[in-house]
Amino acid sequence: MNQMRASEIREILKVAVSPEMISLAGGLPAPESFPLAAIATTMAELLASEGASALQYSTTEGDAELRAAIAERLGRRFAIATAPERILVTTGSQQGLDLIGKIFLDPGDVVLCESPTYLGAINAFRCYQPRFVEVATDDDGMELADLARCLAANPGAKLLYAVPDFQNPSGRCWSRERRAGVLALARRYRLAVVEDAPYAELRYSGEPQPPLAALDDDDTVLYLGSFSKVFCPGLRVGWVSGAEAVVEKLVLAKQAVDLHTPSLTQRLIARYLRVHDLDRAIEGIRALYRERRDAMLASLERELPEGVRFTRPAGGLFVWLELPVGCDARELLAACLAERVAFVPGGSFFPNGGHDNTARLNFSAMPPERLAEGVTRLARALRRLQAAAVPSVA
Ligand SMILES: Cc1ncc(COP(=O)(O)O)c(C=O)c1O
Repeated sequence: MNQMRASEIREILKVAVSPEMISLAGGLPAPESFPLAAIATTMAELLASEGASALQYSTTEGDAELRAAIAERLGRRFAIATAPERILVTTGSQQGLDLIGKIFLDPGDVVLCESPTYLGAINAFRCYQPRFVEVATDDDGMELADLARCLAANPGAKLLYAVPDFQNPSGRCWSRERRAGVLALARRYRLAVVEDAPYAELRYSGEPQPPLAALDDDDTVLYLGSFSKVFCPGLRVGWVSGAEAVVEKLVLAKQAVDLHTPSLTQRLIARYLRVHDLDRAIEGIRALYRERRDAMLASLERELPEGVRFTRPAGGLFVWLELPVGCDARELLAACLAERVAFVPGGSFFPNGGHDNTARLNFSAMPPERLAEGVTRLARALRRLQAAAVPSVA
């Protein structure tokens, strides 16, 4: 327990709830994208026709119809060769991360990850006391030369954790060449690869890249997916797809945690997928977020002072800022809260610390005008902070 820390994001979200505050801090999907009417009718039909079984205990592996639907979608949308028996339904993909930590990691084991990486994965794995080795990352993904260097220094490394599509927090998407290169190195060093892909369907521009799981020819990739960002996060339904022998172990670990993911939400999603067109609904979400991304990038271009760099993501929910070296994003956050705008300082996305001059901004959770106002406030706070830091010569 001494290793565990409160998530900085949750702490910020607690202070960022007042209506005057513009919060660029969370990673919340737009609530107006939730298909409330369709969910209401689907739930009513579900309860009328199969209510007792939807409210009964169920198998740990997950609802059979849902597992089949997930396997079919992964094959059709991403060319991932999987099958219902290779799928474990989890209580959000966050649970998948914890279960993977539980079955793979002993204290001191090396986990390789992008630098920066998803805070929720750091926190999930940290319980199992691994050593994190951060691999340098640029706009095309993990840098292969640095990964080779990290592996030569840590040849017994156990897991490689990656978010290749529109990463949380950086918004970056890996090139195909990097994907193939990482898999080749993983194979050479017999690493298990965890591909966490909750944003894979949220591309707004550019060409889709194949998932690692579709390029993997020796079954080393565990692919985590989720209905959180393309349907509703509150239902808490995600999945792991991978080798059956690994899925069997994950099932044992999950049995001890929650027996199974709620039958009701699993049956609801299975029925929704049968009756409605999720692919079309996702098109609508993409159009909504594309407009928001464009609005945020245009405001950042317009408002930010010289010397601040930011990513231009082709998908996902986040933009990543690099402030001039020496500018502390935690100090900027304090100045921003006075301006009634919040964001997440980037330092906590680096498991080994440092990088205090970075920040994550979310663009999915509010309309373009509010995003623009949020960026204006942030830029104002930054200019004030910079003016205060430079002693006046007048
Ligand atoms: C990269 C990544 N993985 C996993 C999760 C957890 O998602 P879920 O709601 O499926 O548990 C998130 C949530 O923000 C995420 O950004």
